[in-house]
Amino acid sequence: MALPDRENTVPRHIAIIMDGNGRWAKQRGLPRTAGHKAGAEAFRRIANYCRTLGVRYLTVYAFSTENWKRSEEEVSGIMKLLGIYLKEALRDMEKNHVRFCFFGDLSRLSPELRKLCLEATERSGEYHEVQVNFCLNYGGRDEILRAARSFAADVAAGKHTPDDLTEAVFSEYLDSAGVPDPELVIRPSGEMRTSNFLPWQTVYSEFVFMNVLWPDFGPRDLDQAIEEYRRRNRRFGGA
Ligand code: IPE
Ligand code: IPE
Ligand code: MG
Repeated sequence: MALPDRENTVPRHIAIIMDGNGRWAKQRGLPRTAGHKAGAEAFRRIANYCRTLGVRYLTVYAFSTENWKRSEEEVSGIMKLLGIYLKEALRDMEKNHVRFCFFGDLSRLSPELRKLCLEATERSGEYHEVQVNFCLNYGGRDEILRAARSFAADVAAGKHTPDDLTEAVFSEYLDSAGVPDPELVIRPSGEMRTSNFLPWQTVYSEFVFMNVLWPDFGPRDLDQAIEEYRRRNRRFGGA
């Protein structure tokens, strides 16, 4: 029997909710920040592996609009790790050729971190092999509201009429403008919810929930998620 095309292909776009850092640290009697540090290592591993596999877009949920509820110590620890990662990415830019994009409302980040995000975006803009989209202070509802406000402003400015608003036009106002929807969304840590991650973009994505905690997530886990994805029968509403 002929195998579906997807049988041997990797998804073009994988999105990951990097969850379980806190529980990983707790299991070891370590502070939550140690879990985030180990989570950052897991991200480095998986980003490299995605490149090896030929994944074109990797979108990772790093900090949500709701994560500000956490202690000041934890939030500043996460922000510090992000800064370290971005500096490293800027240093290795010419070697790695990864294009960086940021989804989320960056205005609430510190000026230093915002500057690193802008620099990474600008300096990597010409690379086209792999694109990493970091979701920082990202909330799917917030993204949709910001897009709706921008569209409304363009209507007020006479650039659009309300009737221009199609799915394709609205998509161009989102943080993910120009990026195809993820075929596969992975959430480790055992939680089975989306927690405000990419609601517009994932209406027909395949979700794989896994019990491994993010700091323990490795290439074999990604292989397993992709295998599971390949077994799915995607119908997009068709019969
Ligand atoms: C994910 O791990 C990282 C962020 C949300 C920033 P968590 O910190 O949510 O880990 P758990 O869910 O408490 O184990
Ligand atoms: C989602 O995880 C956000 C990130 C992984 C960045 P959370 O840990 O914040 O989600 P809930 O609270 O379990 O829904
Ligand atoms: Mg969590």
